[in-house]
Amino acid sequence: MKSNPFAYGRTVDGEDYCPRRSLERIVRSNFLGGQNMAIHGERRIGKTSLVTNVARRLPKKRLVYADFLFVNTPRDVVERIASALLETASTAGFLENAMKTFANLRPTMSFDTLSGSPTFSLGSAPESHYTPETVESALEAVHDLSAKNGLVVVFDEFQDILRLSESSAVLARMRSRIQFHKRLTYAFTGSHRSRMVDIFSNPDNPLYKSAMPIAMEPIPTDELWEFLAGKFDRSGIKVAADLRPAVAELGIEATGDLQQLCRMVWDKTRERSSRTAAAVDVPAAISEIFRIERSGYEEIASSVSPSQLKLLKGIAKMGGGNIYSNEFREANGLAAPGTITTAYKHLERRRLIYRKEESWKIDSPFFRLWLASL
Ligand SMILES: Nc1ncnc2c1ncn2[C@@H]1O[C@H](COP(=O)(O)OP(=O)(O)O)[C@@H](O)[C@H]1O
Ligand SMILES: [Mg+2]
Repeated sequence: MKSNPFAYGRTVDGEDYCPRRSLERIVRSNFLGGQNMAIHGERRIGKTSLVTNVARRLPKKRLVYADFLFVNTPRDVVERIASALLETASTAGFLENAMKTFANLRPTMSFDTLSGSPTFSLGSAPESHYTPETVESALEAVHDLSAKNGLVVVFDEFQDILRLSESSAVLARMRSRIQFHKRLTYAFTGSHRSRMVDIFSNPDNPLYKSAMPIAMEPIPTDELWEFLAGKFDRSGIKVAADLRPAVAELGIEATGDLQQLCRMVWDKTRERSSRTAAAVDVPAAISEIFRIERSGYEEIASSVSPSQLKLLKGIAKMGGGNIYSNEFREANGLAAPGTITTAYKHLERRRLIYRKEESWKIDSPFFRLWLASL
């Protein structure tokens, strides 16, 4: 019997990556043609996997990948950019040059204990040493090294740049460089739609119109099921006709969440000593996910305020319609709209919930199901 073929919680490639041909074509031609792009879409639908897979397959190009998740200061931003560039340099053979370029930031190299791959951090200069201008210089360094080494840049979770108190100044500095970097393509990806739209499509913002916006949707259900069923099949497990409707009922949309569920379903099928995954495995898989995640969920539930917990439970149980409606407020004991707004802001900042047009959603479908069961 083969091992469990489903992968989640990390960037996927190779056999774990379901091709997305039409999007790949667009992203690839943008990379090659020097067209910067701003790709936004919900979490775990496959933005990072898409963009890194395409970038790694570009002829004569090297990817510089920096993740901006939870950056708070210009220092964080510079460190993410510099480390990304140094990591690329270390595998592409221009580490010495890259180290020289950043010499004034005193980078040091260490080795990841698990993977053995090199990681970089900057010397301990005071926070005030790092300004929006330092960010600009870091971009300039990427550009300089690109001339000889053919680089493309991905700035992932880019909306988190807005967490910086001086974000406008940083974005303005970025723009002043990026607009001159005609032969270096940038892909900005982000999971926060309204913030990404604000950064790139609001005329008041410095990066207005400096990248082609691309809205990313989950892999179409039929295509994804074909991919998932193929994975079951090649690992020696058939898929019963009742599996797909049982999964569909849970309302899980993100590609990564479906892979996670399938991974558990596969295990449960094996535990039954069966070779056919079926609807019966779905509740068992969900219970297993709860068992694994329970302490984390409880930790969240006990760390939020009573109003925040009411809001979370309300959304989980009532399905995310308008949280300001009388019906929602009455059913959940949240009388004052101001309380809802404050609770929403806190939860949103922790990435526990988000808003999509006129609906409010719990980020993780499994956490949503757990909350609904309370
Ligand atoms: N093209 C794909 N084919 C199959 N699974 C995918 C694909 N893209 C993403 N996934 C699933 O989603 C998870 C998250 O992918 P990731 O690229 O990190 O998403 P995002 O960057 O949108 O949060 C992966 O671990 C994998 O389970
Ligand atoms: Mg990502």
